[in-house]
Amino acid sequence: MHAADALQWLPANPLPLDAAVLTSLPDVVEFRHRDTQRWREWFLAAAELVVRSTPPTSAVVFYQTDVKRDGVWIDKAFLVQQAAAAAGARLLWHKVVCRAPAGQTTFARPGYAHLLCFSHTLRDAIEDATPDVLPELGGMTWARAMGLAAVRTAVAWLRDRAGARCLVDPFCGVGTALAVANAMGLRAIGVERNAGRAEKARQLRVE
Ligand SMILES: C[S@@+](CC[C@H](N)C(=O)[O-])C[C@H]1O[C@@H](n2cnc3c(N)ncnc32)[C@H](O)[C@@H]1O
Repeated sequence: MHAADALQWLPANPLPLDAAVLTSLPDVVEFRHRDTQRWREWFLAAAELVVRSTPPTSAVVFYQTDVKRDGVWIDKAFLVQQAAAAAGARLLWHKVVCRAPAGQTTFARPGYAHLLCFSHTLRDAIEDATPDVLPELGGMTWARAMGLAAVRTAVAWLRDRAGARCLVDPFCGVGTALAVANAMGLRAIGVERNAGRAEKARQLRVE
């Protein structure tokens, strides 16, 4: 677990070849400036760096929830896809995770989150397909956490289909993905800029 800025840490620390990445980049409300255009540029650059840092024979999964701000829908799956294309990776799958039951109206955030998986060289054969619509997020360790059920799905895929033995989350928050990975038999490496959350990530354990 590293209490550091991922944008500096990733270029200086090549990931182990048996590592895959699962991460969730911060929303604009997590920045003091709250300027959507500045955040969008930061997000694109950060996502591209994450994809470029992923070992070429492995994969990276982004877990992102869109937001609605000032009457405009900010589609983070679209931003992640732009960043991955700039880094030369291909989309292997795109799942939606229900945050609310189908048919229910939601307001500031949509009723689903995205899980998108990219790789430079891996491919996902048609016969290996897994469900595209996940019925629930699962429990959350804090308000901005990834849902535990969604994380388990992503980690299982990275372990069983991408051969990962180590899980890296460079924006790990309180360490949800790292704790799930450990519980599922993988080593884990986390980076988090906020010292308090980095400390919580060192402690977090899940079943
Ligand atoms: C959406 S939250 C991740 C939550 C995490 N998936 C969890 O389950 O706890 C994004 C995290 O990125 C962290 N962060 C923001 N900028 C960062 C940077 N440059 N380097 C490392 N961490 C950063 C924030 O402090 C925040 O904890």
